[in-house]
Order: sequence, then structure tokens, then C-alpha cells
Amino acid sequence: MAHVTIDTMKAVVVANWKMHPQTFKDARKLFDSTKKAIETARNVSVIVAPPSVFVRELSRGYRGRIAFAAQGARAELEGAFTGDVSLAQMRDARCTYAIVGHAERRARGETNEDVAAQLKASLSLGLSPILCVGEKERSSDGTHYAFIKEELRSALSGIKPSDIKKILIAYEPVWAIGAVKPMTSRDMHEMGIFIRKCVVESIGDAGMDVRILYGGAIDQNTARPMIEEAHVHGLLVGRASLERGVFVAILESLSA
Ligand code: PGA
Repeated sequence: MAHVTIDTMKAVVVANWKMHPQTFKDARKLFDSTKKAIETARNVSVIVAPPSVFVRELSRGYRGRIAFAAQGARAELEGAFTGDVSLAQMRDARCTYAIVGHAERRARGETNEDVAAQLKASLSLGLSPILCVGEKERSSDGTHYAFIKEELRSALSGIKPSDIKKILIAYEPVWAIGAVKPMTSRDMHEMGIFIRKCVVESIGDAGMDVRILYGGAIDQNTARPMIEEAHVHGLLVGRASLERGVFVAILESLSA
């Protein structure tokens, strides 16, 4: 069965379920409500990243517009890595995207080198990487800019410039993940310009086409202003993707 590719000219919303919910029954309910929500939201493309154990069953027989993403997986095709899954296995389970370098995985020891290997493995497997970058904290002397630049440089070094079209970059400041409020759209606008400049430095003019998402504490009130005012292509949504009413409201606000 064909893997789903999404129309990334529309606003992209990535629903990162993280390690939720507890049972497949509840995962099925959540996916059903996400499917309903997208029926009316024609201007939005949705990528769902469920826990890896649920992906194959959720994607079985599904022929709609929602694409699946791995939340994180190893670059090695297979091997002696107890408890891990590989990008190749996630691709086989019908993922089209792979989140790489999420802050919660970096916090557990994934390095820039691991992230670079995963990005390259994703591309060679035909998965589109959603590359997460973001600083832990901000300082008045601007060192967070150098931090972001290095995360981007190390992940993108050696890729073909034309591959940038397959990549989504999700800027997620760690201090905004799980927080009460997202960063301001003004600050995100500034960061988006900086990210684009770094990508051009890394891969040349093709980097102008890079698509940038924002993630961290987005809900139904902040989704649309963030897209409009920060000029981002989409959003990576954690908690708000788990509550049916809230997720529907996010998609509706972007479709209006
Ligand atoms: P949050 O998580 O929306 O719950 O803040 C975002 C993320 O970690 O991707």
C-alpha cells in the first residue's frame, strides 16, 4: 500500500503524541477523532506521530490524507539494540516522515552526530525528516544563536542541496516545550530568518526554500497567530494533539 505524502504548500500540523495514550483502544479513538477533524480542515496537512507500537495497526487500511511519522528511531537498519526501533522498521510500518532530534531524545543522550546519522538514514530510506532544533535556554549575549547554528550545521552537512525540499525544520525552544505559553511570534519570526540564513550557509541558495515549523506550547488560541505573524509553514503540537476538542479547534482555526 502506498505511503501517504502530504501537501506541504498547506499549513503543516505535526501531532506528536509522545508516549500517549496507554492503550491501543485509546490510540484508535484519538486517530479516529483526528481523521474527523481533518475532513473539514481542507487547508491543513496533518502528520501524526504515534508511539511506534501503534503505527502499523493505525495505518492498516487507511487511505486518507493523514501521514504518519516516527517519533524517533535509530539510523542503523537493524542490529543488537535492545528496546529500540529503526527508521527502516518505521518506514516499513508506513511512516512517511521521521522526527529526528526531538529535545526529549536529545535530553536522553542523542548527540548531534546521532541526529545527523538519522537525518541521512531517513533521506536514504525515502522518509522525510522533521529535524528538531532548539536551545535549552536563552541568554542576553545571544549564545543560543550559535547553538542553533551548530545543531543545523552538523545535521545538514553533506546533504544534497536538493534534499532540503524533503526536510522540515522544527524550531522548538526547549524552554517552551510543555510550558504554559509559546514563544512570541515576533521572536519566532526572527529565529525563522536566522534559521534560513544558517541553512543557506550550510547548503547554498537551495536553503532559501527550507520549510520551518514552530513547536512548544501551541494551542487553539496561538496556532493561527503563530503561523501568520511568524511566517512559519506549520506547527509541531504535543499536548494539544491529545485532546480532541483542542486539536479540532487548532485545525479549524487554520482552515478558516
Ligand atoms: P507541547 O510539546 O506542545 O506539549 O509543548 C511540543 C513538542 O514537544 O513537540
